[in-house]
Amino acid sequence: MLILGVESSCDETAAAILEDGRLLRANVINSQIAVHAEYGGVVPELASRHHLLNIYPVVQEALHQAEVSLDDIDALAVTQGPGLIGSLLVGLSFVKALALVRGLPFTGVDHLSGHISAVFLGDRQPDYPFVALVASGGHSSIFQVSGPLDYRLLGCSRDDAAGEAFDKVAKLLGLSYPGGPAVAERAAEGDGRAIKFPRAWLEADSLDFSFSGLKTSVVNFVNQCRMKNKPIPIADICASFQEAVVEVLVEKTVMAAKRQGIKHLTAAGGVASNQRLREVLSRRCREEGMELFLTPAEFCTDNAAMIALAGWYRLQNGETSGNDLDVYSRSSLWT
Ligand code: KG4
Ligand code: ZN
Repeated sequence: MLILGVESSCDETAAAILEDGRLLRANVINSQIAVHAEYGGVVPELASRHHLLNIYPVVQEALHQAEVSLDDIDALAVTQGPGLIGSLLVGLSFVKALALVRGLPFTGVDHLSGHISAVFLGDRQPDYPFVALVASGGHSSIFQVSGPLDYRLLGCSRDDAAGEAFDKVAKLLGLSYPGGPAVAERAAEGDGRAIKFPRAWLEADSLDFSFSGLKTSVVNFVNQCRMKNKPIPIADICASFQEAVVEVLVEKTVMAAKRQGIKHLTAAGGVASNQRLREVLSRRCREEGMELFLTPAEFCTDNAAMIALAGWYRLQNGETSGNDLDVYSRSSLWT
């Protein structure tokens, strides 16, 4: 069965073709980084307009890469939410029209379930149940995943998502957009112990996250440097900030696995492509006798392969969508 997956929730227009839930025949991503970079963040109106311009060529390119035509496609999968409403609507409307004209079944996919599924696009795959950390620009969440469609939220961010914190700190320091890779790059030249930024552990047993206090600490630190006319140690700030985010993400994920008595862990979402996070999580899992299955970095950031795979699971379960399907800005997996 050939599934065409489409993703347009934020600033990437992506299409992928997946065969039988296993063989990735095409994976095309058109990033709008250049469009939004001068504004230091995603401008929703511009994002929708560029999705409209890009979606048809991106799908055509995916068909070309997979050496198939629309006649060979058996079903469609599309991100339904969460994300920017205008951006999501472009992908969903496109897929609905295609489904209607071609008489194909389609299914709406939750973006977070896509991120969680992405680990199965790699060579090493966890057993169910596993604990999944999803750290992206919109979410920092820990799930217990007991089956392809069986998620239980164990903890989530009460304010900024981890990726959002990276993006805001980058903007404050005048680094390029998107902030995560830029901060990580500068962090490589800095000392992670140079500045003691706070770790928000919250209540002793909480698996929730909070990154807004950390962001404020970075703002205060930079302001103090300016007031004292001292140079701003950008590399040390980046390294110390990264260390603070990574420590909390890692310790809470390990705590969740311990509490649930689960030995298999996964990490996904854009922030999970961070090298330091991958190193520390690997070390802590080894120390705790747990097995870590890192989502390949190329499938951590937004892509349509993960949407096609999550769609495959839904279709296998008979979960197709109707023409009345609507987008949503917040995840149903949150509750
Ligand atoms: O999953 P994703 O592509 O989109 C969302 O669903 O939000 O994640 C994007 C986020 C951005 O905030 C970006 O700055 C962050 O992931 N990110 C990183 C790295 N690469 C991307 N954060 C830290 N380190 C990285 N290497
Ligand atoms: Zn994402």
